[in-house]
Amino acid sequence: MSIKISPSVLTADFLTLADDIKKLEAAGCDMLHLDVMDGIFVPNISFGVPVIKSIKAHSNIPLDVHLMIDRPHRYIKDFAAVSDWLGFHFEAGSDSAELLKEIRNLGCKSCLTIKPCTAPEEIFDLLPLCDMVLVMSVEPGFGGQKFMPSALDKLAVLKQEIDRQGLNVELEIDGGINAETAPLAIEAGATVLVAGSYVFSDKMEENVAFLKSL
Ligand code: DX5
Ligand code: ZN
Repeated sequence: MSIKISPSVLTADFLTLADDIKKLEAAGCDMLHLDVMDGIFVPNISFGVPVIKSIKAHSNIPLDVHLMIDRPHRYIKDFAAVSDWLGFHFEAGSDSAELLKEIRNLGCKSCLTIKPCTAPEEIFDLLPLCDMVLVMSVEPGFGGQKFMPSALDKLAVLKQEIDRQGLNVELEIDGGINAETAPLAIEAGATVLVAGSYVFSDKMEENVAFLKSL
């Protein structure tokens, strides 16, 4: 599998986002990562369905929606209508197996996300229901945090188990990805790189080109 790039718009300037998305598409980004935060599951509030709907109407880039909300099953139909890849947290209080199946039934690719405190072994039996697993390499909630190297072992363990089960599951890494950490994540088995502050900087195109070169 080739490496996919999924820039996170969390630290973007939302008034100029349409132009930035065009630039990211032209630079060859594969998806756009959208962080939905409810102020309960994480100590921050970002945006919800209306903003994602506007982005979807203005762009063809696949939308990779990362729900950081409590009991996500309550809102899954609303988000599925505006997502291509739809992920939620294993720790968020929904029945993960049921929700992964529902996401697929609603026509989206399913993604299960784990926080730094969750061991990869806890989700082994859910892997056949996942199109992607997202390993958080920071505590979810904010952009611009430092990469936690413990995520690398988790990626390696998950890659080994995905191969052992003979599955085709993307492995996404999110948090603190930059020129130093991206190569380490790929080496450990990541196939999708989320990058927020590294991409939404004054070197957007240059930094995307670097990630694409890996
Ligand atoms: C954090 C979000 C991330 C965030 C990453 O909870 O899930 O997607 O935007 O930002 P950086 O790349 O700056 O760590
Ligand atoms: Zn995210």
